[in-house]
Amino acid sequence: MSGTRVQETSVELAQIMTPNEGNFLGKVFGGAVLAMIDLCASATAQKFSGRLCVTAAFDRVDFREPIEIGELLTIRGHISYTGRTSMDVTINVFATNLANGERRHTNTARVTMVALGDDGRPTPVPALECEAREEKIGFLMGRLRRELRASRLAELEKHELRFDSATDAELSAWMAGAPIS
Ligand SMILES: CC(C)(COP(=O)(O)OP(=O)(O)OC[C@H]1O[C@@H](n2cnc3c(N)ncnc32)[C@H](O)[C@@H]1OP(=O)(O)O)[C@@H](O)C(=O)NCCC(=O)NCCS
Repeated sequence: MSGTRVQETSVELAQIMTPNEGNFLGKVFGGAVLAMIDLCASATAQKFSGRLCVTAAFDRVDFREPIEIGELLTIRGHISYTGRTSMDVTINVFATNLANGERRHTNTARVTMVALGDDGRPTPVPALECEAREEKIGFLMGRLRRELRASRLAELEKHELRFDSATDAELSAWMAGAPIS
């Protein structure tokens, strides 16, 4: 076996949500959660690679339920996929009601981080050792997301060119609900 085992890559951050993190509805502001996710992803990637790392991309983040002011937010990250110089950090977010101990899994996010060398350019990351079946599936899902990202971008660009060259009548038809794909 070579490389760092997935479970050795984990990093956990925890913070009580104060009114400073609140939105106009008195719940936790989504941007505050994203900032903590980014911070945890950065710490996880730097611990694994031993390098300064930058955020290259956020995969989709869904906010399934509100987080209350006063709850303890726990953000747990681990490396789930490695490329040559990039890493996917899988982040799980939990909110705990400290009064009754009830804990909810509120978000899952995947963040692509890139390791930088002393010259400030992307530099290779160490190998990741996936032992458990779920770790292997997590790795393969990361590879798949990377492959799909390229084809999805190409597809979106193709449609944008199509919209650019469409007539006003065609644009009106699509705006009225005609299928576009
Ligand atoms: C991320 C960054 C270092 C990549 O630099 P680059 O010159 O494009 O480098 P490369 O083309 O060699 O790509 C390096 C790796 O990043 C990955 N990558 C680059 N852009 C990416 C993106 N948008 N999404 C996912 N992965 C990306 C590449 O696939 C490659 O991975 P691999 O080595 O594992 O195959 C550069 O775009 C950058 O500095 N971005 C700004 C980062 C930043 O400031 N983040 C904070 C924003 S608030």
